[in-house]
Amino acid sequence: MEVRQQHLENSHLHRELQSVYLATITMLADAAEAKDPYTHGHCEHVASLAERVAERLSLSEHDRSVVCHAALLHDVGKIGIADGILNKPGPLSPEEFEVVRAHVRVGADLIRNIPALAPIANAVLGHHERFDGTGYPQGLEGEEIPIAARIICVVDSFCAMTTKRSYKEAWGEEWARAELERCTGTQFDPQVVEAFLAVLDMPEPLHDSDGPTGYNLLPVFGYSSDQHCVRG
Ligand SMILES: [Fe+2]
Repeated sequence: MEVRQQHLENSHLHRELQSVYLATITMLADAAEAKDPYTHGHCEHVASLAERVAERLSLSEHDRSVVCHAALLHDVGKIGIADGILNKPGPLSPEEFEVVRAHVRVGADLIRNIPALAPIANAVLGHHERFDGTGYPQGLEGEEIPIAARIICVVDSFCAMTTKRSYKEAWGEEWARAELERCTGTQFDPQVVEAFLAVLDMPEPLHDSDGPTGYNLLPVFGYSSDQHCVRG
């Protein structure tokens, strides 16, 4: 086989694999969201904003990839939580709260079982840690918490505040911004909050084939400038 033809076939195979990979992780994210009618599209929205924060913080291509894919899958561990708890309109009992808190370990364990996804497991595990060390599951503090987890924590909290849930109405964006600033340095990493607020003030970029993103988590996949980890 000619070298050029072999190269074309390899490129085609890489693109197919990348596309299967993206479809698979999106399906996992969708499966978790399907359990909660109020969170439809939430993970993609978080991933899209997290991707822009990572870019604003000038993270490496690898770290941006981890941020984006971990953001898509951050709540995949909710697959194992009973619907009655997940969609409970009132406050949770301490026992129910423990079940919900377990979603970070369940999600990280699920992801760690897939070797290609292992780099994002710690980001999923840490997305409910707090910058001051009072979060869960490990009580990590400051930069002990993976940067991807610190980014997801800020973006996820903002998106949760500004959307309707089974237990609360949607709150206004100005109120949510003020809440992020109020919790800077305690719940949230100050540099991430600053970058996120800057991203919110910027116009949303168009995803086109010349865009700067197209992150690849797996070394086996060739670079593909028209592929984003978020659909559309
Ligand atoms: Fe979560």
